[in-house]
Amino acid sequence: MASSNPVPNTADLLPERLITSSERRWLYVMAAILGVMFSVIVVTGMTNMLHPPNDVEKIDPTTLHLQGEFVESNLGAATEPDGSVTVRFIAQQYTFVPQCVKVPVSTPIHFRLTSADVVHGFFVGDTNTNAMIVPGFITDIRAKFKNTGSLTMPCDEFCGFGHHAMAARVVVVPKDQFSNVGPEERVTCGAQ
Ligand code: CUA
Repeated sequence: MASSNPVPNTADLLPERLITSSERRWLYVMAAILGVMFSVIVVTGMTNMLHPPNDVEKIDPTTLHLQGEFVESNLGAATEPDGSVTVRFIAQQYTFVPQCVKVPVSTPIHFRLTSADVVHGFFVGDTNTNAMIVPGFITDIRAKFKNTGSLTMPCDEFCGFGHHAMAARVVVVPKDQFSNVGPEERVTCGAQ
């Protein structure tokens, strides 16, 4: 009758020092992985890729229409001396002002938006241009459009009962449609 021996043969066991060194090796690997992940967070954060593009510049939402950058006459697309274009929008329940903006193709575009009331969303269809618009802050986003065409710009942050109907348009046009825009002019879709 064979009786099984409950005590394992000590020759089959790894020496304790081998187990310890193996455990220590895995500990070092884990520490290295954590270190790499932490460095990725720090580096991307410092180089602005994780940094939210809003919350940088502050603005008083109660006086937008009275003074400063977002008065009505300054909204829309403006050409800059360096050839780039700055586009300014106000988001408010439940519309964007202006409702439609023209921008030139293959040109650096600088979007600046702010909210007059609650948090809204800024999203230009078919691109990765996407940010929150928070009252009291200026959302500052840079983009460049490779193709001409009309892009929907819906509010993608729930902002109230009229949220689903809140949208504007960005119409990307050939560059020559912008060549004669003066520095004081602001271009919207109705202006040309
Ligand atoms: Cu504005 Cu949703």
